[in-house]
Amino acid sequence: MRRSPVSERARLALPIVLVGPMGAGKSRVGQRLANDAGAPFVDTDVRIAERYGPIDEIFDREGEEYFRIVEREVVAEALREEAVVSLGGGAVLHADTRDDLASLPVVWLQVSREAVTPRLTGGNRPLIAAGGIEAWAAILEARRPLYEAVADLAIDTSRRSVARIVDDITERFGGAR
Ligand code: S3P
Repeated sequence: MRRSPVSERARLALPIVLVGPMGAGKSRVGQRLANDAGAPFVDTDVRIAERYGPIDEIFDREGEEYFRIVEREVVAEALREEAVVSLGGGAVLHADTRDDLASLPVVWLQVSREAVTPRLTGGNRPLIAAGGIEAWAAILEARRPLYEAVADLAIDTSRRSVARIVDDITERFGGAR
């Protein structure tokens, strides 16, 4: 598809941040949103893996606590960039990250248990490797108040196309640059 000239593209307040549980579509939506806005896209999981190796190996070798330390470092850096930033599902566990998010536009991508089930198969996510969808649901319940606290906009991605979700976000946060 032909790319629109920059003048016709969505102008977004940047950085804009996507949060939500594993499988909510943060990477897919973020990539598309960034592309449409002509903005860089940062996926903090990808950046962690580039610097420290595959995430499941970090969990295996060093444990979750260490992962959260390197995640915080990468997240803090990403939140200072003029980019669309997708955070790993657990990044909101860090109080400093929640503080940073208080002054930024934050979108919480939600997804139902039914819709997320097929999205999680074949993934490489250490926190649900053993417990599957039950573990996913328990983790979401524990974190729900954190997502609620940081989000300015919540969108249920269960039955909504990526294009519509991107439109929702652009409508809410467009034009502020
Ligand atoms: C995690 C989510 C993952 C990744 C890591 C831990 C979590 O990111 O950061 O496996 O604690 O929810 P996604 O939300 O992008 O899958």
